[in-house]
Order: sequence, then structure tokens, then C-alpha cells
Amino acid sequence: MSDLDPSRLPAHVAVIMDGNGRWAETRGWPRPFGHRQGSEAVRRIVRASRRLGIRALTLYAFSEQNWQRPEGEVDALMELLREFLLSERDELLDNGIRLRMIGRRERLPSRVREVLEALERETEGLSDMTLTLALSYGGREELTDAVRLLAAQVAEGRLAPSDLDEARLEAAIPSMDVGPCDLLIRTGGEQRISNFLLWSAAYAELVFSERLWPDFQDADLLDALGVYQARDRRFGRVSSAASMATSDVLMPDAASRAHA
Ligand code: IPE
Ligand code: IPE
Ligand code: MG
Repeated sequence: MSDLDPSRLPAHVAVIMDGNGRWAETRGWPRPFGHRQGSEAVRRIVRASRRLGIRALTLYAFSEQNWQRPEGEVDALMELLREFLLSERDELLDNGIRLRMIGRRERLPSRVREVLEALERETEGLSDMTLTLALSYGGREELTDAVRLLAAQVAEGRLAPSDLDEARLEAAIPSMDVGPCDLLIRTGGEQRISNFLLWSAAYAELVFSERLWPDFQDADLLDALGVYQARDRRFGRVSSAASMATSDVLMPDAASRAHA
């Protein structure tokens, strides 16, 4: 924490937790062993984020596309998810962490959904940090659902097409409830988004780590935050230093006229 500026922490950090399978495979173990080890890394990073004062943490735990994996791996992931939710209950309640999920919840097995929804209700009023689990989640699916919702309102005559603007679309996108993603970390060495927060990450700073997710430590999170703080977020503008420099300098042709 020593090198970080606490006043410039990202409000919303999101993580594509990748590399569990390879972590297990390099040891000659079945892939679910990597997922189990990965759930320990989730516990570490939730704790560290809360300690640092990050307001929102969104974790990509299972994509809509991950249903295409072998049945045994999917079952193992669902069971680990259930165990994680049961075991983290006290930690969330004691630390003021609200838990919520984004994604197609109806696809989750009922034994997972029941535990998840109970925890969502129990932590609803907590506000020190929001932990969002992306489960059966896809960015394209999320946008498609949002558009379908708004289209229905238009069809019912409750919304005019001309009223459909960015703000309305954004309000229909569940991942935007906690504001746009500021820092997006992907572990495991791949440099792609894999259908994660497509709208929310529009101006996110991307940090890719070679570390496989089960090996990801507090120090790696601090490193990513350090990289984030060293970046110049311009949002299409010029940097603040450059705008100060240009504001009191004449344009070249104006300058030559002034000397004429
Ligand atoms: C990420 O690890 C966890 C999920 C996608 C559920 P992977 O299982 O994708 O691990 P690799 O990428 O195969 O190593
Ligand atoms: C992204 O990882 C999804 C999660 C981490 C949950 P994948 O391993 O599924 O992504 P690809 O297949 O490498 O794009
Ligand atoms: Mg992967």
C-alpha cells in the first residue's frame, strides 16, 4: 500500500479470473483442483479489496459460454460456488459487504440459486463494498437483455423511441449499478475481454497479469493498482498537464500575427 495514493484508488475494480485449469494441468491434476485453489484466491482478493477501501469489486466467475465445458467441470464449478457462498456468509456480514450477481440466474442450478439469493437478501443493506459475481454472464447477453426490455416498453407505448438514450440503456444494464469499471484485471496471460463488461469497461484501464489465478496474491493486486495509478486517463480529452500548457499559448498562426 505504501506507494499507492489512497485518494486515487479505482472505485470499481473487475477481474477476469483466468488460469485455474492450466494451474492444475501443469501439476498433472484434474482441472477442478485448479478451480478449488482459485476459490482461495477469491477469498484473498475480496478481503484485500475491502481492506484497501475499494467500493466495488466485480468478479467474472462463470461465463455464459462456460456452459459448453464438460459436464464434470461445470458440476464441480457449481459445487465450489455453493461452498464459497456458504462459507463466506459471516465474512460478508462482518465486513459490510453487499453481494449481488449479474448474469442469467435462471440457468444456475436451484441449489446454487437458493444460497445466492438468500445471501443477496441478507446483505442488501450493506454498503462498505459491493461484491458482484458474474455468473452465467456475458456482456453481449446483458446488452441484448437490456435492449429487449426497452423494446418491450416501446412496444407498450410507455417509451418513445426518441427517449431512448445512453442514460436509459445504461439504467437497464445490471453491471452498471455500481458505476463504470475503472480497472479491469485479467490473470492467466491472455489479452482479451472474453465477453465481460462490454459497456462498463468502455474506458476501463486494462491490466494483464501472467499470474495464473490460483497464484494471484495481495501483492499482485497492489501491483495492478500501482500500474493503474501511473496511467493517464484522458477519456478522449488531452491530459490535464497538456491542457494547462496549451491554454495560455497562442495558436501558431495567431502567434505569427501577434509578431507582425
Ligand atoms: C478460469 O479458469 C475459470 C473459469 C473460466 C470458470 P479456466 O478454467 O479458464 O483456466 P484455463 O484458462 O483453462 O487455464
Ligand atoms: C473467461 O475465461 C471467463 C472467466 C474467467 C469466468 P475463459 O477461459 O472462459 O475465456 P477464453 O475461453 O480464454 O476466452
Ligand atoms: Mg481460461
